[in-house]
Amino acid sequence: MRTIQIAPSILSCNFLHLEQEIKNVEQAGADLIHVDVMDGHFVPNITIGPMIVEAIKKIATIPLDVHLMITNPEKFVTHFIGAGADILTIHAEADCHMLRTIDVIKSQGKKAGVSLNPSTPLAAIECVLQDIDLLLIMTVNPGFGGQTYISSMEPKIKKARRMIDKISKPIELEVDGGIKATNVKKVVDAGATIIVMGTEIFHSNNYRKKIQEVRKIISR
Ligand code: DX5
Ligand code: ZN
Repeated sequence: MRTIQIAPSILSCNFLHLEQEIKNVEQAGADLIHVDVMDGHFVPNITIGPMIVEAIKKIATIPLDVHLMITNPEKFVTHFIGAGADILTIHAEADCHMLRTIDVIKSQGKKAGVSLNPSTPLAAIECVLQDIDLLLIMTVNPGFGGQTYISSMEPKIKKARRMIDKISKPIELEVDGGIKATNVKKVVDAGATIIVMGTEIFHSNNYRKKIQEVRKIISR
């Protein structure tokens, strides 16, 4: 039985009460805080920069899982590490020297992840799988919270699971986009170990109840 971690995406939280929102999901039983960084270039939206990550780090008691949806991530990873990111995930489509950026992240003692858009095949990360700590499979086209889960990604999640199992290294398999209590079981059964949830948690009226509901579903 794999350990499953739940990572609420603060993209869907109430930013007027960011500190309280973070405390609330921590108290509700979250394992990681998922921070969606968007640059308006790699994806059609602009969100959070290192300044906000630094502020979050001051109050967070669980690790910050920073998802960089930005072009040329190599220019910014050091800034985000300085701000307090614990896991830094870059997109394979956004970096033509992925291995160099992965090395920079790891050399600073942080965990390195690589993410794939729905249309990008797993072949894109085959050559770096040995070098990463986390593989993130997108189940929406990145850019916005609250989009519909693309269920046709499930064979890709299963294939990623098989690829990871073949190498003797603990690599987290994270899945992000449109995950709800209604589809989380399929994601976990396909092999995910980290579940990102934005709207499902932050638009619910009881974060603790929602996380407990999800944990119950995936433990069945
Ligand atoms: C999408 C982001 C996701 C998203 C998750 O670009 O990477 O983390 O905010 O939110 P939901 O769970 O609402 O799809
Ligand atoms: Zn994300």
